[in-house]
Amino acid sequence: PIPLWLDCDPGHDDAFAILLAAYHPGIKLLGISTVHGNASLEKTTNNALSVLTAIGKHNEISVHPGAAHALVHRKPIHAPTDIHGESGIDGTTLLPAPQGAASPVAAVDAMATALRATAPGAAWVVATGALTNVAALFQAHPDLAAHVRGLSVMGGSVGGGFTPAPMGKVAGVGRIGNWTQWAEFNVLIDPEAASFLLAHPVLAPKTTLVPLDLTHLVLATREVQDLLLYGPEGPREGRGKSDLRVMLVELVNFFAGTYRDVFDLVEGPPLHDPLAVAAVLTGTPHEIPFYDFDPGSAEGPARRERFAVEVVTEGTLDEAFAGAPTGRTVVRKLEELDAEGVRIP
Ligand code: BDR
Ligand code: CA
Repeated sequence: PIPLWLDCDPGHDDAFAILLAAYHPGIKLLGISTVHGNASLEKTTNNALSVLTAIGKHNEISVHPGAAHALVHRKPIHAPTDIHGESGIDGTTLLPAPQGAASPVAAVDAMATALRATAPGAAWVVATGALTNVAALFQAHPDLAAHVRGLSVMGGSVGGGFTPAPMGKVAGVGRIGNWTQWAEFNVLIDPEAASFLLAHPVLAPKTTLVPLDLTHLVLATREVQDLLLYGPEGPREGRGKSDLRVMLVELVNFFAGTYRDVFDLVEGPPLHDPLAVAAVLTGTPHEIPFYDFDPGSAEGPARRERFAVEVVTEGTLDEAFAGAPTGRTVVRKLEELDAEGVRIP
């Protein structure tokens, strides 16, 4: 299995990233670190512990609290409660209180120790929240950049993916970001951390960015929710639904309500974060999947493009909300590869 460290800010969709990383047979989850974002660090840490308890992994996977605010912008911003609720993961009474506590070992130290224990070129770091912890890790331990196999990040936005995907109301013309006109949430709340990683000479070429363009194509529709509730065999007489399945669907439903109210999206919400975990399973660590692939093709992308990604760091958050492009991810195409990975001149 692929050794993987997950840095997250649960968060409804982060919960699904945890579930996937903890249970996919192709992945060995080394540990979890938490970061500010969807709610305060205290809450995201508590939520990570609750999710692990709910899925029966609290004795196996430790949770390490990381940064409570961005590298440079000292005042943390948290998602407003209309996105993830008061707790950061509202919408179900079935999420248990955590059994066990967070580890006293800080996130950066725990990540460094766990990654050093893996073979060179083996482990992935996956980030589904602000990039503060991950940037701090590679700043404190620069040699680890060459050691890891790759970095997979849910964050950023190239064209937004609001169209032709059914993202109506909020999209407007030329809308790119989900938080401001230009910026996606995880990048916006710590642009310096994102910029450090995406401009890093060793890390950037082996980073997979999973931007809104991709996540807005993968919606937890009614059909997906039924699959989650009943499993692939569908509803059957006399077979109860487990509390865990009900809880997961309740989480999706809360997020669905958010997307209905805030983004006018009725098909079901995008569950952004598990896609960054799934990306490590594609086995193409140094290539960013081309997002505009032919949806009719079962093989997935027919060709791939690699981009350099620059993060706009100028401007305060207030300026960003007033229209500045702070936190925007600007891409420049580096090369194009065919289905076999051969460069197209
Ligand atoms: C990202 O922002 C958070 O609210 C979600 O958990 C996801 O990581 C999407 O922009
Ligand atoms: Ca997240």
